Amino acid sequence: MNILLLGSGGREHALARKMSQSPQCGQLFIAPGNAGTSQCGTNVDMGVSEFEKIRAFCLENAIDLVVPGSEEALVNGIYDFFAADAALQHIPVMGPSQEGARLEGSKAFAKLFMQRHQIPTAAYREFNAGNFEEGVAYLQQHSLPIVLKADGLAAGKGVVITSSHDEAVAEFEQMIRAAKFGDASKTVVIEQFLTGIELSVFVLTDGHTYKILPEAKDYKRIGEGDKGLNTGGMGAVSPVPFADAAFMKKVEDQVIRPTVAGLSTEGIKYNGFIFFGLINVEGEPFVIEYNCRMGDPETEVVMPRLQNDLLDLFTAVTTGKLSEQTIYADPRAAATVMLVSAGYPEAYEKNKAISGIPAPTNDQVVFHAGTKQSGATIVSNGGRVLAITSLAASLPLALAHSVQTAEQISFEGKTYRRDIGYEFI
Ligand code: AMP
Ligand code: GLY
Repeated sequence: MNILLLGSGGREHALARKMSQSPQCGQLFIAPGNAGTSQCGTNVDMGVSEFEKIRAFCLENAIDLVVPGSEEALVNGIYDFFAADAALQHIPVMGPSQEGARLEGSKAFAKLFMQRHQIPTAAYREFNAGNFEEGVAYLQQHSLPIVLKADGLAAGKGVVITSSHDEAVAEFEQMIRAAKFGDASKTVVIEQFLTGIELSVFVLTDGHTYKILPEAKDYKRIGEGDKGLNTGGMGAVSPVPFADAAFMKKVEDQVIRPTVAGLSTEGIKYNGFIFFGLINVEGEPFVIEYNCRMGDPETEVVMPRLQNDLLDLFTAVTTGKLSEQTIYADPRAAATVMLVSAGYPEAYEKNKAISGIPAPTNDQVVFHAGTKQSGATIVSNGGRVLAITSLAASLPLALAHSVQTAEQISFEGKTYRRDIGYEFI
């Protein structure tokens, strides 16, 4: 099977490595990829939303499966683009239709979907330029803190949580009237603040049935103890101790099953990953967001724990045979520590030479996030540079091994957290 994987982060390196381990993997291409993905297949200089280029590439290279790593191509309609083209129709795209991707692409769509299917989520109201004044009045009487969310994709920056009414109103005005996030903030969702601990739950669905993958928790703040600015993710752990059988049963009954059934009854085509961003409020799961793809850095702990052949699962998804599959997870704990560039998530420098990356073993892999090959040297090429994942009998051990390797790898400005998974240690 020849595969085209779209993306260039740590998630894509983890997916590329996992697919390349399958006996069914023929040629694996990654567009645009990074220095790590080039160790699993062939990088192709092509953007994830350059559909015409992707079309030509798939036909020239006899691609049998397209795997979008991030939401971008899915929200832009790559599934529908392939389905509508007579020459591409036979090539399955591992992901939802554009309509299905709206679960991630529009917070307002996701909220209405959850309401229709009685899926637990924070209470909310939706506003735009048409009911702006009503929104201001609503904010002024809202309990604190207040959560404001730009409706559309805003590069992970569209959520603002504030403990001041004045700040909330100013932000609301920025979003709607000053188009702070362009079209993405023409509509704003204002929701109740939920207090609890977060959890990422992933399923694969073929539109009828679903299979639950190992769960994970990510650490978004730049600083230890969850202090400082939000980032794309500084690390992750799997499994998550509080996600026991009793809690996961609630997640399955109240969130997963109604979501998959809701997509099906509404006739929304969805063959791919669903990522449930949950919050555990005193033992009850609430959905804070849907994503139509895997998480990053969660994929870097989930894929190493997944013992199935990933291409078997993908084929089952795209052929509607997922009910025949059983998911097997490594019982060991996984901890990922992300090495980032100095200054990230604000301005940072690239092109720093990296050394000391160890070869993968049975209990450790260093995934590349923002790297590229420059002659014989691997250099940094992004804010998040490398994701070190270790597997061990316990979470503290897995974390200790990742931190040890973090110390051994060097590049100028290397920054990381040593406390990934701290609440469970
Ligand atoms: P999102 O982009 O929807 O994942 O939101 C970004 C982050 O904001 C989440 O990971 C949570 O930490 C936080 N968040 C979002 N919605 C809420 C909420 N209703 N209550 C508390 N925290 C939230
Ligand atoms: N780690 C969160 C995300 O991928 O959106």
